[in-house]
Amino acid sequence: MANNRTFTMIKPDAFKDGHTGAITKMIEDAGFSIKAMKLTQLTSETAGEFYAVHRERPFYNDLCAYMSSGPIVAMILEKDNAVEDFRKLIGATNPADAAEGTIRKIFARSLESNAVHGSDSDENAAIEGSFYFSDLEKIK
Ligand code: PPS
Repeated sequence: MANNRTFTMIKPDAFKDGHTGAITKMIEDAGFSIKAMKLTQLTSETAGEFYAVHRERPFYNDLCAYMSSGPIVAMILEKDNAVEDFRKLIGATNPADAAEGTIRKIFARSLESNAVHGSDSDENAAIEGSFYFSDLEKIK
């Protein structure tokens, strides 16, 4: 993935609450192009693999259980400065701390169920995108 791409998931809480369309519209209105998109559901094992970097953190088991509790929408997004701009669009991890107008402020239920994931670096965006999508499934 070039460094103008990032990776996101609409998490189980936001999907269950019916926010997929509204969140996707906010993403596109902010200037991101969708380069891959998939509705799927993680198992606790695949969630554990995706979040392996957080294995030692106290919330790891809860995070894996939550992320495998229902469908998620995975997307690869493209825009100049994608990783940083997307993290601004979604807001702080804890919606209580997120700026007004951000996706987490509007749609997240709590710190644990915070509506969306956004990659934290270009390197992780590439790894995370390839976790979900084959080359055939990504628009060049
Ligand atoms: S971040 O956004 O990666 O800088 O945030 P971080 O604090 O490192 O959190 C990493 C992911 O863990 C989730 N998280 C939690 N889940 C459950 N319980 C608690 N207490 C908790 N704290 C953080 C957080 O939403 C991050 O998930 P992703 O999918 O990366 O957004």
